[in-house]
Amino acid sequence: MSANGFPERPVRPGDRLRPGVRNSGSLLVDNIGELVTNDPRAGDPLGLRRDAAVLVEDGQVAWVGPARDAPAADRRIDAEGGAVLPGFVDSHAHLVFAGDRAAEFAARMAGEPYTGGGIRTTVGATRAASDDELRATVRRLRGEAMRQGTTTVEIKSGYGLTVADEARSLRIAAEFTKDTTFLGAHVVPAEYADRPDDYVGMVCGPMLAAAAPHARWIDVFCERGAFDVDHARAILACGQAVGLGVRVHANQLGPGPGVQLGVELGAASVDHCTHLTDADIDALASSRVDCMCPDGLHTATVATLLPGAEFSTRSPYPDARRLLDAGVTVALATDCNPGSSYTSSMPFCIALAVREMRMTPAEAVWAATAGGAAALRRNDVGRLARGARADLMILDAPSHLHLAYRPGVPLIRQVLHNGVPQCRP
Ligand code: NIG
Ligand code: FE
Repeated sequence: MSANGFPERPVRPGDRLRPGVRNSGSLLVDNIGELVTNDPRAGDPLGLRRDAAVLVEDGQVAWVGPARDAPAADRRIDAEGGAVLPGFVDSHAHLVFAGDRAAEFAARMAGEPYTGGGIRTTVGATRAASDDELRATVRRLRGEAMRQGTTTVEIKSGYGLTVADEARSLRIAAEFTKDTTFLGAHVVPAEYADRPDDYVGMVCGPMLAAAAPHARWIDVFCERGAFDVDHARAILACGQAVGLGVRVHANQLGPGPGVQLGVELGAASVDHCTHLTDADIDALASSRVDCMCPDGLHTATVATLLPGAEFSTRSPYPDARRLLDAGVTVALATDCNPGSSYTSSMPFCIALAVREMRMTPAEAVWAATAGGAAALRRNDVGRLARGARADLMILDAPSHLHLAYRPGVPLIRQVLHNGVPQCRP
């Protein structure tokens, strides 16, 4: 196996690429069956182009255009007629943890409900783990995701729930991504069970102070059994006051105030959105337009849907159609965590969204790339246009449709991350 976990493959004649190593000079990807750019100027939401080529230089997309006009390059990757897409942007994942909860999953499949109570089991295992054990788990899951096309991932804390354990979770997460999220308000830990106000005070005080240097975002699990709306508002406001962006776990297990709280606070994303009222959808649809987005059409607060959680908790799926028809920007993410959604696979989430959530394949692919970028307020990823990061995948299939049409099949032949090939063609 290579450093990235890809199997080593025999080098083909003329193949000068070395996995995981930045090769100097320009790189041309051509013989592309279908190119997904997410560039709205191309006339359709995915910005589809045929007979296109992509030039990569210095880790960025330097040029996109018709293959016949492609500039000369030092090296070439032949996509062999496969589709080329921007790398997936997984904007919601909990990768810093120890242990697993396979038995809890088995119990659910035998009829037990999901309540979130198992989070405390993972908190115990995480506190007992060494830094190196936690780091190894993040590396394993990060590699797993990369092999499935994920080139950007957000990583939350939330299984430490002490000052020291939240800070170290974020320090380790920051070794893998700049989109780190402080989730000290995941649940009230057992030692504070009788005094949740004290826990909230601790989250807003010493825990935030220790976490903030390693975090870009703050998140709260705003749900019955976790944090109520007043606690959630107080914690998120403290995070905003020290410069963190807001995200909210909202409306997962039942209707509640989380989505509207997120809109009120200008959250980049409200995540789960499984149980929404018309008022929730109206609030999202009327959230101000995010001017950072190249097409200027996104709602400021993105609804991030996490179908892996509904799959793994055997719950009803969120209705993406209702959100999309109201003009709400939708992202898809894995929610990868050992309790409610132990998958790192964005293609799996795309397939679920299409089959179960009334999304078209094009909407689902957009939500898993550009939608995730909008949820992280980033315009350097999630699209393939000049100046974007050279994060892309080549499929063993001629079009993006196959991601939903061929569920469970390893279709991703190659991934470029920052212009660096992660495996050989
Ligand atoms: O996003 N909702 C809260 N947090 C996670 C679940 C974590 C767990 O069950 O361990 C989620 O589903
Ligand atoms: Fe989550």
